[in-house]
Amino acid sequence: MDHFLYRDGELFAEDVPLREIAAQVGTPAYVYSSATLLRHYRLFDEALSSMPHLVCYAVKALSNVAILKLLGDAGAGMDVVSGGEYARAKAAGVPGERIVFSGVGKTREEMRMVLEGGIRQVNLESEPEMLALSEVAAELGVEVPVTVRVNPDVDARTHAKIATGKSENKFGIPIARAREVYAEIAQLPGLKAVGIDVHIGSQLVELAPFEQAYRKVAELTEALRADGHTIERLDLGGGLGIPYTRSNEVPPLPTDYGALIERTVGHLGCEIEIEPGRLVAGNAGILLSSVIYVKSGEGRDFLILDSAMNDLIRPAMYDAWHDIVPLIEPAAGTQSQPYDIVGPICESGDTFARARPMPPLSAGDIVAFRSAGAYGAVMSSEYNSRPLIPEVLVNGDQFAVIRQRPTYEEMIARDSIPEWL
Ligand code: LLP
Repeated sequence: MDHFLYRDGELFAEDVPLREIAAQVGTPAYVYSSATLLRHYRLFDEALSSMPHLVCYAVKALSNVAILKLLGDAGAGMDVVSGGEYARAKAAGVPGERIVFSGVGKTREEMRMVLEGGIRQVNLESEPEMLALSEVAAELGVEVPVTVRVNPDVDARTHAKIATGKSENKFGIPIARAREVYAEIAQLPGLKAVGIDVHIGSQLVELAPFEQAYRKVAELTEALRADGHTIERLDLGGGLGIPYTRSNEVPPLPTDYGALIERTVGHLGCEIEIEPGRLVAGNAGILLSSVIYVKSGEGRDFLILDSAMNDLIRPAMYDAWHDIVPLIEPAAGTQSQPYDIVGPICESGDTFARARPMPPLSAGDIVAFRSAGAYGAVMSSEYNSRPLIPEVLVNGDQFAVIRQRPTYEEMIARDSIPEWL
């Protein structure tokens, strides 16, 4: 459920007409709903309420500091994968003891940064990384809580570019080698194993792959405990999918997911961490965009928008579907017609949808891409020297720009011309 609904014939974000935001901020722009973000975070929090737990929001999905503050103030922990994400979480006021550090290639500089700033745990992804962290921690004279991310070799049955739990993927340590690695950690200075970490992929629309992975983690917990290790925390990753189209089968709900966690690992008495990103932020954001031109092509009409693949890359990168709806609700009985919906960038990949049935639209009309809150703004670039677009946060009947649209001068000012030119 989200808070982007038609009311009196036009689309609202909570109690704000999107038309008003478009008029004040311009298009393209991302707009987020506080109520939806909080609701989704709380669904996970409640789904795990029978077990000690921390929901660590995956910052990579939508990392604006205002969003992190909103979720952090509600009690969320954060899952970060870079020094930059860690700095954002800290800037949002999230204490280090609620931040977990994941990622397959953490540098020593990043390790130093989180050890100095405070960290709940580091999720190790390889032995070289384990050795590096041990050295950095020993240099600083601290002991850092760690988990090992295990690769359970489970097929997440999602898009190949976002599946991470098969043995051919670069992530984690093969689960069969885990006991050896925990034995090594026990010998190393500066590291203290506290649990196990797993994450098998993103946009999972079935529970079965999670179930397979979590059963393997439960078995491993018992084996490691028998080896004498303290396993008191399980980080079960993110990945629960969202509905992108209304005709889609509905993915499992956080309550089903919570029940699955309880069933598979609840008996172990561990503190549970999860790292959802998409389900918290995805349907909490839309991308507002205006039609620049309607162009008649050979056997097709193109809607040329003012947003492009640099603003929302998911269709070009994963062939992802986003519902695209007009701000003005079509009158009942309006005949739709197919459009190829494209951006202004100079390559054919800059296509959001082909032959998409839409109500008749004209230049100047505004549309909203739904489900664009996660992996939207964060994956944008300035390709074709299109400045990053603004982000707006709605809360009830108020809204605020939480990232300004840079001017061309600001964009260019980051470059410098050497004196010898
Ligand atoms: N934890 C780890 C270690 C991850 O790698 C990810 C996502 C998450 C948590 C959060 O997963 P979520 O709950 O959001 O599914 N750009 C792609 C998605 C990439 C996901 C990467 N890792 C997309 O637009 O579909």
